[in-house]
Amino acid sequence: MNYEERCWMKFQIPNHKYQRGVLLRDLTTFHTGGPAKYYIEIDGREELVEAVEWARKNNLSIFVLGGGSDILVSDKGIDGLVIRLVNKDIKFEDERVLAEAGAVWDEVVRQAVERGLQGIECLSAIPGTVGGAPVQNIGAYGQEFKDTFERLVAYDVKQRSFVEMKSGRCKFGYRDSIFKKERGRYILYEVILKLVKGGEPKASYGSLIEYFEKKGIKKPSLVQVRNAVVDIRSQKLEDWNENGNAGSFFKNPEITIEEYEKLKRNFREIPGYVNGSLVKIPAGWLIERAGWKGKRYKSAAVSRKHALILISLGEKGRAQDVKRLAENIIEDINLKYGIRLVPEVGLIGF
Ligand code: EPU
Repeated sequence: MNYEERCWMKFQIPNHKYQRGVLLRDLTTFHTGGPAKYYIEIDGREELVEAVEWARKNNLSIFVLGGGSDILVSDKGIDGLVIRLVNKDIKFEDERVLAEAGAVWDEVVRQAVERGLQGIECLSAIPGTVGGAPVQNIGAYGQEFKDTFERLVAYDVKQRSFVEMKSGRCKFGYRDSIFKKERGRYILYEVILKLVKGGEPKASYGSLIEYFEKKGIKKPSLVQVRNAVVDIRSQKLEDWNENGNAGSFFKNPEITIEEYEKLKRNFREIPGYVNGSLVKIPAGWLIERAGWKGKRYKSAAVSRKHALILISLGEKGRAQDVKRLAENIIEDINLKYGIRLVPEVGLIGF
């Protein structure tokens, strides 16, 4: 056997390292999704390159799974290689935190707060891994991932090399980034954030202000802000261990001030938050007012707790039902308000 043939053999299916038929419903917070054609867990740079090359040689698409907390995977599953990074190191160097893609996001927040490092306290209790945080540019209670982001290391599948990316290249937007726009090109490996030692914790979001007013706390500490966020989230949002979900299913739409004024004529109490030249409308309000809160479609439903969350019911919940429910909501909201809702959750394998 010549060298070329030996190389080819190395990459040929079957290869015992790649598991077959792993069910994605067990690896996503929506608890939906059929099997991955091939699946591998990866802990190092070389292994990652080898897996990407193996997929390339075997003409398989690649899907990188993080905590599975912002995706809805189809009942058919994923016809390709699913890679899950399980590198989990979290290192602190002065005000910087270097966290590997497979680390649990909330563990990074917890350790940062414990060290008195400010900047991500409002992003407490967001499910998922570090690798998923830049993809969505996660945000909550007035903070966004991009605010403390310094740089990241990713494997560029197109260029076949590891690259370092700063903010400009990541094109962060509201629940958006280059990693969403060019899904499949970059595999996030490590993230570096720059936090502020002894910085003033952020507690300017409406529900946080209300929370501390009720408790009579004037100047909450970093730990108190983290605990408040964890508390509010557990009351307002659905627990995915009980009802499969991926947090907000849709983004909050942004419309022009003129469009907002026009809507106000018909719906006087419609809330809106001015953001530059645009007005952000809470999609939860639109969905609730349109009568969808608690409504069910086969094995899917709109949460009774928060209208922006779609849930999948029971062990046999089907992704197809969630998708159809979402489509029905989009159509109805468009009809009633002339606003087209856009999913924040990634629809995979449909
Ligand atoms: N509302 C309703 N009915 C509902 C829910 C909300 O009328 O059933 C209205 C209320 O007017 C409320 C407003 O919506 O005041 C805003 O609700 P909330 O504070 O819960 O925030 P949100 O805009 O629905 C966003 C993020 C959440 C994040 C919270 C807090 C998006 C798409 N969602 O939700 O993020 O936790 O703000 O900062 O931007 C996620 O991305 O998965 C997520 C949970």
